[in-house]
Amino acid sequence: MPSTRVLAYTALVLSVIAYRSGTVFKTSIIDKSAFPTGYVHGGDYSTDCKTLQDSDGSNDLKFCEDATFWELHNVAGKLEERRLLITCDPNRKSWNTVMGPLRDPAPLGALWLYTPHVPVASAIETPIKKAANLLKNIRGKKEAERAAEGKVQRLTLKDYPEGHDFHPLGVEVYPSFSGNASNVYVVNHARHRTTIEQFLLSPSEPTTVKYIRTLTSPYFIAPNALALTSPDSFYVTNDHLITRRLPVVGKILPLLESVFAIPFGFVSHVTLAPPSSPEAEATPILEHTFSKFFTPFANGIAISPSGTKVAIVSTSLGQVHLYNRDLKTNALSTVTDTIQVPFCPDNIRYSGEEIILAGHPHFPSLVQLAANKTEALSPSWVVKIRPPTDEEKEAGLEKFDLLAPISVSSKIARGNKWTVETLFQSDGAPEGFETSSTGLQDPKTGDIYVTGLYAEHGVLVCKPGKTTV
Ligand SMILES: *[C@@H]1O[C@H](CO)[C@@H](O)[C@H](O)[C@H]1NC(C)=O
Ligand SMILES: *[C@@H]1O[C@H](CO)[C@@H](O)[C@H](O)[C@H]1NC(C)=O
Repeated sequence: MPSTRVLAYTALVLSVIAYRSGTVFKTSIIDKSAFPTGYVHGGDYSTDCKTLQDSDGSNDLKFCEDATFWELHNVAGKLEERRLLITCDPNRKSWNTVMGPLRDPAPLGALWLYTPHVPVASAIETPIKKAANLLKNIRGKKEAERAAEGKVQRLTLKDYPEGHDFHPLGVEVYPSFSGNASNVYVVNHARHRTTIEQFLLSPSEPTTVKYIRTLTSPYFIAPNALALTSPDSFYVTNDHLITRRLPVVGKILPLLESVFAIPFGFVSHVTLAPPSSPEAEATPILEHTFSKFFTPFANGIAISPSGTKVAIVSTSLGQVHLYNRDLKTNALSTVTDTIQVPFCPDNIRYSGEEIILAGHPHFPSLVQLAANKTEALSPSWVVKIRPPTDEEKEAGLEKFDLLAPISVSSKIARGNKWTVETLFQSDGAPEGFETSSTGLQDPKTGDIYVTGLYAEHGVLVCKPGKTTV
């Protein structure tokens, strides 16, 4: 093509992107802000944050796309601890069905489990109670469990089919109650198609996950993230309709679908026959319903703790959409809230009634890392979405998040109902943390976890105001 035509086409493409998703275009493609090496809200990055490393010396705990809390409830139904289940794929630079390339699907990714130290007793307890609890904890906990505390351990995939690829992306696990096993679902970008793998994870054997079955469906076109509605049902987002797997057009059309924010992403709700039920063998998927069509690049999804709200991320629009959920039918209302953020948002989690959202404030450098341009620095940004405080209401829609080195309000105004506050920021340098794809905050301890799609070194944990290193 003569270069003037290339220029003309480029200008046309850029103007359409600017028109379709102007905010994202400006904040996440054109601008690259001067982010700090590391900033954590309410703390000091250099002393309160560290990266969790694998405990087996393999250096495989990297390129982790997603993480979720595994909640353990005791006999009385009380939440006792939150562990972190993490999906990583050290081979992502050879196999990424969302961003490319599709070169070598053979090396397997892995699931990892992080067990934080459980505080033995809280400050308000009397010394006697404290001692009793301590004793109970020591007696009640198996040797292996205590050895796991403070460590990230690779989970052995028990009974996993020989020759079946494993490229985990979105992950969700049902809570465990009085020690029972939990159903785990993992989106798997396998060689020929994307599947959802079901496993069992048991508190009595927390170093293995037992493979149950592989779920496939003609409607699993490009599954990305999951949110469970029961031990045997879930929402699943499909990020694109046109995928990279298609021959010839697969290289360019998905990119166009992303950059033009063409609304081909969709969200489904899937109900399974429990593995033990008579129909499980013949029809593992009892019901598939489309919950939402036409979400451009539908990515992360999360359900509020009360179950009545569902948050869905549109990466290419830089937005979170909130819906009301019918608890009986799982039907979603029309959009009740739209929250704009100044980056390409990825995965989303609730922390209490607040929303934690991670994403990519400079998309071109993420694309460079995907293409193994290892010198590229791809920044991270994790925010909390919550109702504004009275002071924030008074300060107006243009002044908020003022503690952050690059404040959200330097990029966008907030809406009336919600404000967006920076929890974590990094320029992606080696001493910082790159390519944040999931952020979580333990609502009880305030601890923050961040995974990075192309983060070379582990998973970040920050304990703001509590020096850890
Ligand atoms: C990425 O580049 C590094 C060196 O810069 C090289 O060692 C590695 O094999 C490359 N990875 C892939 C998947 O091409
Ligand atoms: C564990 O117990 C909970 C609560 O009774 C139940 O909903 C769940 O199905 C059980 N999990 C499994 C895998 O049986």
